[in-house]
Amino acid sequence: MTPSGTINRIALLFAMDAEGTPIAEALTLGDPEPLHAASPARVRRGMVGDVDVVHCIHGTDPTHGVDRIGTEAAALTSWLMLEHVQPDLLVNAGTCGGFEARGGAIGDVIVAQSAVLYHDHRVPLEGFAQHSEGRFVPLEAAAVARLLGAASGPISSGSSIDVTHDELAFFTREGVLAKDMEAAAIASVCQDLGVPVMHVKAVTDLVDHPEPAHEVFLRNLASTTEVLCNRMVQLVRWIGEGRTLDDFAN
Ligand code: ADE
Repeated sequence: MTPSGTINRIALLFAMDAEGTPIAEALTLGDPEPLHAASPARVRRGMVGDVDVVHCIHGTDPTHGVDRIGTEAAALTSWLMLEHVQPDLLVNAGTCGGFEARGGAIGDVIVAQSAVLYHDHRVPLEGFAQHSEGRFVPLEAAAVARLLGAASGPISSGSSIDVTHDELAFFTREGVLAKDMEAAAIASVCQDLGVPVMHVKAVTDLVDHPEPAHEVFLRNLASTTEVLCNRMVQLVRWIGEGRTLDDFAN
C-alpha cells in the first residue's frame, strides 16, 4: 500500500505561454499536445526524477490571438486537465501584482497560504456574499515557501489588471500579498474534485503603486518569468526526489 500523501503525478497549470513555456523547456518535457479537441490548451509531459509531470498552458484565444488568461479559461482548463490527468497535486504558477505596503517588490515569489479569495465578486446577500469571496484553502506549504525563499499569505483573483478603491480596501483587510486572474477559479475546481492545490506567483507590478499596472507588467514580464522558471524548476526537482504532501508543510 502506498503511504497517504504520496506524489506520483503532478499537474502544472499556467495561463500564459510566457509563464509556462520556459519551465517546460528547462524540464525537457515532451512536445505540446492538445488537452481536448474543443480546447486550445496544450499539454506537455515528462518524468522529473520519480514524478510524472503534466504541464498545461491555457492556450491561445482563436479570435484574438492572445493567451486565454482569466478565471473562465482557468476553471474550464483545470477541470478538463484534472479529469484527464488525475494528479496527486496541482501547482498553479504565474505572475501577479504585489503590494508595496506589505513588503512586496518586483520579482518576489509568493506561495498562497491560508486563503485564496475573489476580490471583485460583490454580492451583499447573506450566504451569497461568503460564496462569492471564495476563501478556498490551499495546501499547507510553509516548507516549500522556505525552500523557494518565498513570502506566503492570502492571494486574491479577479477579472481585471487594474484595481478599484473597494478592492484596495479588501486587500488591506485580508492582508493579501498577491493579486492575480486565475487562482481562485482553479482552487474552486480543485475543491470540487478533491485535488490538493498550491499557487506560486511572481510579482510583475505593484498594485498599490501609482503607475498603471499593465505598463509595469509588460516591462517586468521577462525578468519575472525568469525568476518564476528558476523557482518552479527547483520545486519540481525537489518533488521528484520523492516527497509526500506532508513534506510541504514542515
Ligand atoms: N498578473 C500580473 N499582474 C497582475 C495584476 N496587477 N492584477 C492581476 N493579475 C496580474
